[in-house]
Amino acid sequence: MTLSTCDALGRPDARVLILKDLDEQGWWFATSSASTKGQQLEQRPTAALTFYWRTLGRQVRVRGTVLTASDERAAADFRARGLGARAVALASRESQPLADPSECREAVQVARAALEAHPGLVSPNWALYSVNPDQVEFWQADPDRQHARLRYAGSGSRWVQTLLWP
Ligand SMILES: Cc1cc2nc3c(=O)[nH]c(=O)nc-3n(C[C@H](O)[C@H](O)[C@H](O)COP(=O)(O)O)c2cc1C
Repeated sequence: MTLSTCDALGRPDARVLILKDLDEQGWWFATSSASTKGQQLEQRPTAALTFYWRTLGRQVRVRGTVLTASDERAAADFRARGLGARAVALASRESQPLADPSECREAVQVARAALEAHPGLVSPNWALYSVNPDQVEFWQADPDRQHARLRYAGSGSRWVQTLLWP
């Protein structure tokens, strides 16, 4: 999915992320809280998600408030990752300038050794976020370009459905 956030000046930023889970609280993703997006979310805890299925001609758009999971939940997510993924996440200074790729390779090796010695180790920056939606739009392509658009907007405890012009 594409996660869009805004920086402190309101300028948009977007990148692809893995959707980790979907439940009654929203759409979940994991990243480093020290990354660019992590810092943006700290300043402006609001985001949009975009999903696109080319073969189905389908798009889903989500907008909402971003909530940060508890440290325990983030740690559980981190520990559930494979050794290689944990080593990279532990070593990474995500979104910081990298002078030389060898610096990253060495840091990952050190992190891997640390994780092998202490399997319970968790990256202090690992964070789990959910987008708690206030607006979701389902978009279905039509061969005659009269695409179907159905928007759900949160209103109190209920959702208001609205068809939109393509
Ligand atoms: C298919 C794909 C999946 C990705 N999944 C994640 C992810 O789950 N978490 C993450 O932090 N970065 C993920 N990335 C890397 C991000 O796109 C991005 O490069 C990184 O998070 C840094 O973004 P930022 O500088 O805006 O914080 C993924 C990239 C791709 C192409």
